[in-house]
Amino acid sequence: MESGKYRVLALLPILASLILLYFNIFPQDYRSGCSLLPHRHYWIASKRIVTPNAIISGAVEVKGGKIKSVVEGDEWRTNAWSHQIIDYGEAVVMPGLIDVHAHLDDPGKTEWEGFPSGTRAAAAGGITTLIDMPLNSVPSTVSEETLKLKTKAAQGRIFVDVGFWGGLVPENAFNVTALERLLDAGALGLKSFMCPSGINDFPMTNSRHIKEGLSVLAKYKRPLLVHAEIQQKAEGDLEMVGNPRSYSTYLKTRPASWEEAAIRELLAVMKDTRAGGPAEGAHLHIVHLSDARSSLELIKEAKSSGDSITVETCPHYLAFSAEEIPDGDTRFKCAPPIRDADNKEKLWEALLDGDIDMLSSDHSPSAPELKLFGEGDFLRAWGGISSLQFVLPVTWSYGRQHGISLNQLVSWWSEKPAKLAGQDLKGAIASGNHADIVVWEPEIEFELNDNHPVYLKHPNISAYMRSKLGGKVLSTFVRGNLVYQEGKHAPAACGVQILAR
Ligand SMILES: *[C@@H]1O[C@H](CO)[C@@H](O)[C@H](O)[C@H]1NC(C)=O
Ligand SMILES: *[C@@H]1O[C@H](CO)[C@@H](O)[C@H](O)[C@H]1NC(C)=O
Ligand SMILES: [Zn+2]
Repeated sequence: MESGKYRVLALLPILASLILLYFNIFPQDYRSGCSLLPHRHYWIASKRIVTPNAIISGAVEVKGGKIKSVVEGDEWRTNAWSHQIIDYGEAVVMPGLIDVHAHLDDPGKTEWEGFPSGTRAAAAGGITTLIDMPLNSVPSTVSEETLKLKTKAAQGRIFVDVGFWGGLVPENAFNVTALERLLDAGALGLKSFMCPSGINDFPMTNSRHIKEGLSVLAKYKRPLLVHAEIQQKAEGDLEMVGNPRSYSTYLKTRPASWEEAAIRELLAVMKDTRAGGPAEGAHLHIVHLSDARSSLELIKEAKSSGDSITVETCPHYLAFSAEEIPDGDTRFKCAPPIRDADNKEKLWEALLDGDIDMLSSDHSPSAPELKLFGEGDFLRAWGGISSLQFVLPVTWSYGRQHGISLNQLVSWWSEKPAKLAGQDLKGAIASGNHADIVVWEPEIEFELNDNHPVYLKHPNISAYMRSKLGGKVLSTFVRGNLVYQEGKHAPAACGVQILAR
């Protein structure tokens, strides 16, 4: 009896070591389903790693969710066990995309998209962080209370990191306390519209509201994002302009002069942001610029005179042109509208010259009944392009015809967006940063057909369906968790909510 008891006791240290070993091999994040990888210390190896200085052959060492080192050559292999090396060969290893403009419609309009499907699609598209827009959810995010509803809705339901813009609307613009509470609660900045947004609880602002918003934002060093279009004609004229099934009719209802008028007004307001002004130091970001002519010239002038302004455009303005949009195909309806082919070429030039700073998806889906409402009537269908999962291959497919480089892709999709959203530890493959990484194969071509896994709630409303694209996402890492790999997601939604403080 006695010796049997001692024998059991003698086994205890062995048992303890086995338990320790188990927890070491399968750490918390793997057991909880956050990652498809069984370890948190590993090396991502490739011959094409896009770092801020150069494209190198070597490895990114990831430990505990951060990038521990970025190493060139092969010597690092002596420090790693073979099971800790994920060798991607020639595939491109790049910072994950940061999409500063996405509408996930959660809470309240989850039949349009929602956090789970939206962030799964983002992960499958190489997006590691997205910033959710304050409208198209119900209610809109225009106060501390409504931001709390957002963060509650996102709890345990996001597969990538998600931050939130708040809304600047007439109701809160003159109420400093209300704006401060919204910003104190973590909104990364504010967004406003200079034309009707189409959403009842998100009315448009004028330049007086915008001035107020800028002066509060200046103190917080967070940006104001503006939808820059001002309506130039009475609604009544819309019926007169032509066949509503023809895209050119819709285009005529929202001419480039709307964008130009808004930008002129914004630039006048920017005087307040100069030294000694009431909004000194405030930053303005113009969302989804479509007009590459007068509007862009105005922005260039303002930038060269020292105003703190950035501007984004979206892949749909770079991929499509008005001439090609088929009659009745309302999947292409968005605001501002997609313009002519020559304008598209000018947008590319501006992007390559650095006059346009960055890209965003403006992923803005809706229920198919609304998107296809009116059976091809461009004036009645809901506006917004659904694109979240496809922005990397779309930018690459159309961009390579313009000779874009991998470093430019990173600048437009990661570095500059990280800066806009105030995310110092994101947007570059560098030691100490979050291990937010996309691995993809620029040389692989595919067709977005029904066999292609699309994780958006309504794939069919995307204008990209059925197009042929190049650039396949293999793997996506968010804070060191392998959240997506070739058609498979990590089981648990472990994205982190990004709140400013
Ligand atoms: C300003 O906002 C605060 C916080 O939402 C609210 O309590 C207060 O009533 C508002 N003031 C005015 C004048 O509307
Ligand atoms: C999407 O379109 C395809 C092909 O046109 C069709 O077979 C499929 O049923 C549609 N799916 C939905 C959800 O409408
Ligand atoms: Zn938008």
